[in-house]
Amino acid sequence: MRHFLTLKDFSKEELLEMITLAQKIKAQTKQRQFVPYMEHQTLGMIFEKSSTRTRVSFETGIYQLGGVGLFLSSNDIQLGRGEPMKDTSRVISRMVDMVMIRTFEQSKLEEFAKYSKVPVINGLTDMYHPVQLMTDYLTMIEFGKEKNQVVAYVGDGNNMAHSWLMLAAKLGFELRVATPVGYECDETIVTEALEIAKSSGATLSFGNDPKVAVNGCDVVTTDTWISMGQEEEKEARLKVFDGYIVNEDLMDLAKPDAIFLHCLPAYRGYEVSEETFERHEEVVFTEAENRLHAQKGIMVWLDQKRNEKH
Ligand code: CP
Ligand code: NVA
Repeated sequence: MRHFLTLKDFSKEELLEMITLAQKIKAQTKQRQFVPYMEHQTLGMIFEKSSTRTRVSFETGIYQLGGVGLFLSSNDIQLGRGEPMKDTSRVISRMVDMVMIRTFEQSKLEEFAKYSKVPVINGLTDMYHPVQLMTDYLTMIEFGKEKNQVVAYVGDGNNMAHSWLMLAAKLGFELRVATPVGYECDETIVTEALEIAKSSGATLSFGNDPKVAVNGCDVVTTDTWISMGQEEEKEARLKVFDGYIVNEDLMDLAKPDAIFLHCLPAYRGYEVSEETFERHEEVVFTEAENRLHAQKGIMVWLDQKRNEKH
């Protein structure tokens, strides 16, 4: 049985298998052909943080696969009153067929997975957001950006930046990260990604100048400067990130046909200008829709792997 906790745990071939499945199921869905790959299965969805896309895409996705989703907000279940993660896991995983968790520390997710009888999917932690990156790669393919692309990530060295690092390292493309001093990516993750990149041929570079990162690139991406759980740092962060906005002046340095990606929610006037965001809205909202399709690919892949074992 496999879990989907970080992209680090998968080979390039496995990640591409999930993407291929997602493309196939997306095409079927577009024809209103709902193949019950996961008939009668229940997906438990535990949320310790807010969500629009993750909740709607997983719940709709499992339903379209023939199953049902259970939305479990930590405010409403005993986890929020202190029941240990490992007990929550041992209870829920005896009743459902798969679990998605959005939480804070990666270690909490890992603990749930350790005690779980069913596959567990990372729906975002402070460290990683891997389902989003599978989605972003699917979107890049759809917009013709999967071959020899150069991606620039501008902004906070956060869960999105870490997941971009792992995706680039695994798939072997060039990623340039520009963050303010003091807001760089986690050193351990950078070291791991650089190690993985040695065998995939990925080029990973790090700096503090968005212009250097974006120069001549094919894909520009960013994320909020204030992630969930960092609300108290807002004032300080807004000062530090001044100058890291992705706007038309910055986009002018990328290739003329460069696309802009954003996992959303977007904060206009902060990490992205209104003009840049709206000019790329077709890509950005296709990306949002692709959460539904990419995650179906991941869920079906995990389910197939489990069945292979028995
Ligand atoms: N991108 C993303 O994960 O969005 P939500 O926080 O709305 O789920
Ligand atoms: N970095 C953001 C991503 C939101 C989808 C956060 O963790 O809040």
